[in-house]
Amino acid sequence: MTTLTATDLKQMKQRGEKIAVLTAYDASFATQLENAGVEVLLVGDSLGMVLQGHETTLPVTIDDMVYHTSMVSRVRQRAYLVSDFSYQTYETPEQALTSAQKLIAAGADMVKLEGGHEMLPVIKHLVDNSIPVCGHLGLLPQSVEKLGGYKVQGRDEQGAQTIIDDAIALSSAGIELLVLECIPAELAANVTAAIDIPTIGIGAGPDCDGQVLVVYDMLGLYPGKRPKFSKDFLLEQGEGKGVEAAFKAYVQQVKEKAFPDIEHSFS
Ligand code: KIV
Repeated sequence: MTTLTATDLKQMKQRGEKIAVLTAYDASFATQLENAGVEVLLVGDSLGMVLQGHETTLPVTIDDMVYHTSMVSRVRQRAYLVSDFSYQTYETPEQALTSAQKLIAAGADMVKLEGGHEMLPVIKHLVDNSIPVCGHLGLLPQSVEKLGGYKVQGRDEQGAQTIIDDAIALSSAGIELLVLECIPAELAANVTAAIDIPTIGIGAGPDCDGQVLVVYDMLGLYPGKRPKFSKDFLLEQGEGKGVEAAFKAYVQQVKEKAFPDIEHSFS
């Protein structure tokens, strides 16, 4: 089976076709997600919270990311595979390249990093070395202590403008995908219109080019409080329906622009 490419995802944006993304951390989930039609598997460092039981993503190591990326990559067929850099493993351009090479060797197609214009030297070095890069703006879980908690970002005029400026700068520097986390829906729509690469929203309203959720949240498996922007798709399917039905419902609702609705967005 042919694997999707970053160019395919960009063409989906151009056609106005929504991109369905979910996190995946192991082979069994990755297979079910593929079967349901998910286009991008994100090996997120959220695994530190939902798999490892940490309170934040900060304790996750690059070896953890390599381990889970190889599990997902072993069974991946059609989906595009993005892996997160773990905390403090992309502090300098050289360190980022070494970490990225480990993730790519484990099977990632693209690496994801958190941050705005301060990341430009790192992004440039990765792109110059032919490493595809995904950006991540808005709520940055690796900076949760600096941000003072898991809060919606870009609510004031200056914060919103910074996110738009960063999105344009990162996309000019060569990132090919951009995750927007926990920002007002109107701001995410403006960012999406301002750049020609796909935006993938989580808590960023319905107008992003695609949507992502943490798979344990959308199955109601994570014991912590489910965020406002997530939904329990397993519960919604009703008794007796399996995990694959929940994944299929997610893909369908993303494609039909039924998810996220106003209830699962910030204004
Ligand atoms: O680590 C992760 O799962 C992520 C998503 C929240 C986008 O980065």
